[in-house]
Amino acid sequence: MTNTNGKKTFYITTPIYYPSGNMTIGHTYTTVAADTMTRFRKLQGYDTYFLTGTDEHGQKIEKKAAEAGITPIQYVDKIVAETKELWKLMDIQYDDFIRTTEERHTKVVQKIFRQFYEQGDIYKAEYEGMYCTPCESFWTPTQLVDKDGVKVCPDCGRPCQPMKEESYFFRMSKYQDWLIDYIETHPDFIQPAKRANEMLTNFLRPGLQDLCVSRTSVKWGIPVDFDDKHTVYVWIDALSNYITALGYGTEHDELFRKYWPADIHLVGKEIVRFHTIYWPIMLHALGLPLPKQVFGHGWLLFGADRMSKSKGNVVYPGPIVARYGVDALRYYLMREMPFGADGNYTNESFLLRMNADLANDLGNLVSRTVAMIEKYFDGVLPAWDQNTEEPIGKELREHCAKLPALFEEQMDKLQFSQALAETWKVVGECNKYIDQTQPWVLGKDPEKKGLLGNVLLTLAECVRFVAVLIQPVMPSTPARIFEQLGVTDESLKSWESLQSFGRLPEGLRVHKGEALFPRIDVNKELEALSAGTPGKDEKAAKKEQKAAEKEEKKAEKKAEKKHEEPEFPAEIPFDTFAQCKMQVARVLECVKVEKSSKLLQFRLSFGADGERTILSGIAKYYQPEELVGKQVVAITNLAPRKIAGIESQGMILSALDGAGNLRLMTVGEGVEDGAIVG
Ligand code: MSP
Repeated sequence: MTNTNGKKTFYITTPIYYPSGNMTIGHTYTTVAADTMTRFRKLQGYDTYFLTGTDEHGQKIEKKAAEAGITPIQYVDKIVAETKELWKLMDIQYDDFIRTTEERHTKVVQKIFRQFYEQGDIYKAEYEGMYCTPCESFWTPTQLVDKDGVKVCPDCGRPCQPMKEESYFFRMSKYQDWLIDYIETHPDFIQPAKRANEMLTNFLRPGLQDLCVSRTSVKWGIPVDFDDKHTVYVWIDALSNYITALGYGTEHDELFRKYWPADIHLVGKEIVRFHTIYWPIMLHALGLPLPKQVFGHGWLLFGADRMSKSKGNVVYPGPIVARYGVDALRYYLMREMPFGADGNYTNESFLLRMNADLANDLGNLVSRTVAMIEKYFDGVLPAWDQNTEEPIGKELREHCAKLPALFEEQMDKLQFSQALAETWKVVGECNKYIDQTQPWVLGKDPEKKGLLGNVLLTLAECVRFVAVLIQPVMPSTPARIFEQLGVTDESLKSWESLQSFGRLPEGLRVHKGEALFPRIDVNKELEALSAGTPGKDEKAAKKEQKAAEKEEKKAEKKAEKKHEEPEFPAEIPFDTFAQCKMQVARVLECVKVEKSSKLLQFRLSFGADGERTILSGIAKYYQPEELVGKQVVAITNLAPRKIAGIESQGMILSALDGAGNLRLMTVGEGVEDGAIVG
């Protein structure tokens, strides 16, 4: 769609959350994702609209308010105010926040309900079945799951209550075949694709039940205006928000005409069913086009469980942001797990990411680049020296020039984590490039000034590319990077400015600033954070983690000692050396060892000699994914030993560089996997 200025429009929504308690890091996850996507489209020049809000009616809220001894509206007003504060804290730039208690919403829902009734989609009958209040879902007795003799909700595992009352029903069955056909012919409609299969197999093909769409026993809802004993079922009420917020069904429907159909409804996977069955049928019955995509993302888990207010195992973003800033948390949420999959939130994984990706990789790159421009060029960016070839950085420059396209390709699929991984590959290459070109050596030779300038310009331009691209994820860090690089020209911060590499003009004055992200002491921070995070599960996990860390530290102290203070005998017999079998191996897989800040676990191929698992304490210096496919050198006849509960079948060789970082021993071209070193 395009607006009147010819700009493409982009309309994205989050679920409207139940204000039954304060929003958690789980709600924050969806909201940050929607905000990131909006900012990215905005950067690309789209005319964007981002809607979020609160789903305030229903039995669940009614009960909560009664427990607190206040009216439902008093109850939700407070939480809504706090939610808005939280989104401000998280740098969320929504265009509208809809509350289902607002008249602009309730009036239109009544109108929609009446239209359904008048056109025969809704009829009145007696409902008898089971109801799950936390999910606001109806179930037939056969759909319930048996848990220790109690019939529980198949979605959330909590007990359901029997329910019998006069209700209006929506003839869902009438639209079933149409919807099956629609889903089958629109492969992008439900994402990830496996969720479409779940809907077809579990709900649509077995046959849709007519849906109970009104309640007489729930007072806290929108009254059915032609039969005021009834209130509108909360999901019919809630789903309508995506169009009522745009003024659908009113005189002022400009936004609706401009932005509908939505480009993306972002939802957690547990509510994909409502968004891909009930909502499309409602829209179709209203004669409206369907949203282009419903993306059901995975859950942020806490231990083995979904984090949820009702389970009491919740992490709130406030304390994390207060301590480490909003950008670190936004980065973590978008980077840690592939969008669509479940992932575990732990304070440790957050702190490790912050140290590795932000303090080490990005922070160091920026501070080294700026510091070297200060040192060797008095803080002023030189011009590219045309008379000096700089072949080492050719690949890096070409890679960085392609980065925007790689980034966009992942963002188009909402693969935030991959988009960031692509970006951090360039960051990693830049750091490697510094080690390869050794500017501190070039700086000693006046004849190499041109070369040194070209190296630093390459770095500065890569940093600019990275800063532009991460703006949607981290709203304030890029500004700090631009400030250090001396970039004030807004056009150099734009998406268009990434069309070609090498746009940083000569003469920019860099300013060395504070470290972007200070390195933190993970153990100390874990202590501090755990004071703010609840749950006996975490306590147990922490204890386990501490024990594992202790064991690991012991093993690693030994290993590190080897690097720091080698105590070698003056000479050894040749035979002793010949006993040590060193081989070249290729990295098949590489992952971080859970509960360890230092260890990476490798699956290595030794060609004809097969595969083995080896652990190495280099997690602080490498991203696991950048090592896959690389060749390394390993000792393969060491006695196996257990580290952090995993058997390591050998040792990978590495050495300390000048800055105290461990670097892997590498192998020249053409050496086969399994080749003997010696
Ligand atoms: N009110 C309904 C949605 C109506 S939309 C028309 C609702 N509200 S909710 O408060 O329960 O929010 C659920 C949504 O919050 C999830 O679908 C997801 O977007 C987000 N999340 C809440 N906790 C989450 C996790 N632990 N992990 C991932 N997302 C989570 O359902």
